[in-house]
Amino acid sequence: MKIQQIKFRDSKQNYSIIIGNNILKILSKKVKSLCPNTKKIALIFDKKIPNANRKIILKSLKGYQLFVYKFDANEKNKSISSVNILLNKLLFNNLNRSDLIIGVGGGIIGDLTGFVASIFKRGINFISVPTTLLAQVDASVGGKTGVNSKFGKNLIGSFSQPKLVVCDLSFLKSLPKKEMICGYAEILKHSIINDKKFFNWLKNNTKYILANDNKKLSYAIKKSCKIKLFYVNKDVKEKKLRMLLNFGHTFAHAIEAKNNYSKRISHGEAVLIGMILAIKLSIVTKVCKNKILSELLQVYEKNKLNYLMKNYSNNKDLIKLIPYLKNDKKNNDEKINFILLKKIGKTTLPNEHKISVQKLKSYVKNFN
Ligand SMILES: NC(=O)c1ccc[n+]([C@@H]2O[C@H](COP(=O)([O-])OP(=O)(O)OC[C@H]3O[C@@H](n4cnc5c(N)ncnc54)[C@H](O)[C@@H]3O)[C@@H](O)[C@H]2O)c1
Repeated sequence: MKIQQIKFRDSKQNYSIIIGNNILKILSKKVKSLCPNTKKIALIFDKKIPNANRKIILKSLKGYQLFVYKFDANEKNKSISSVNILLNKLLFNNLNRSDLIIGVGGGIIGDLTGFVASIFKRGINFISVPTTLLAQVDASVGGKTGVNSKFGKNLIGSFSQPKLVVCDLSFLKSLPKKEMICGYAEILKHSIINDKKFFNWLKNNTKYILANDNKKLSYAIKKSCKIKLFYVNKDVKEKKLRMLLNFGHTFAHAIEAKNNYSKRISHGEAVLIGMILAIKLSIVTKVCKNKILSELLQVYEKNKLNYLMKNYSNNKDLIKLIPYLKNDKKNNDEKINFILLKKIGKTTLPNEHKISVQKLKSYVKNFN
């Protein structure tokens, strides 16, 4: 299978996202060319990465002095105390700015290690090896790094780009189905907000993506990264256009908060429900037509994703979500700031649809 490459370029930096199957061996060549002065490499692995993949990476980098850490990836550990532990290990081993950190794991490892790299001695080289579908299509793209605080998720962090992102499809073979659905939700969102042709392609190819077909995955990951980069390039610091990537997430975050962030419903599952609710809101506010909802529901039905909707089709249950919608970070006053859908491939802009709680209640009562 051909290796795919996407190049990110802005006024300050450039880096590539490389996508392929069994491509971890290229790390040694890439490190040599991108970080020619590196002598020491700190490798931070998600504990659940298959041993075989870990061995390939270690073998490929055997010419360097390696420091290997395994990390239990969960939202509780994505914390400032883990940052402190890692910083101390790097300081103890006397790494310097020309050395390198490689984070190998899902979005938690990527966010945490990217943040550590951005503040260690004011910035050390960083390479990201995302190992979940969500990390490959979303979390590793765009340079947002950070950790959680007791006051909320991702509240401490930085904007900082890696030297390279390597998406190896072989990691996805050990990923549970629920995690594949998480990544798929973001792929589908990217198509809905930006690319009708890609959405039509997903109509026929979702089943192959969820069944881990390398060729289809490679295409979907490349498309998805390109769409995310399109928004990131226009708005690196998330002041306006990048907020469109939040489509479906206003409802999704409320669903996750109402469920106390329990494992019963994952972020991706909440996004899949959130996108349907955002489209229902777009219909009652006359921003979009009914047929768009039917089109999307067909994708869910065909791929057995509609099991998610059963708890969110009753209007009384939806009203109970409203208090949780008020905490969305896009809100800049008492009203809730929604990104709505005009048609597949086109959303409204941030601040175009700010809706009061009272009005939202009346809209939700009219959801079909
Ligand atoms: N920086 C960004 O722009 C951005 C965007 C979206 C999400 N995020 C963050 O990403 C995180 C979610 O990422 P995620 O969904 O990858 O979750 P995650 O990192 O928690 O990984 C999900 C689970 O899969 C396991 N895992 C990872 N790779 C595996 C593999 N190859 N085989 C088997 N198991 C594997 C992990 O140990 C974990 O249990 C959240 O913390 C979120 O805030 C960041």
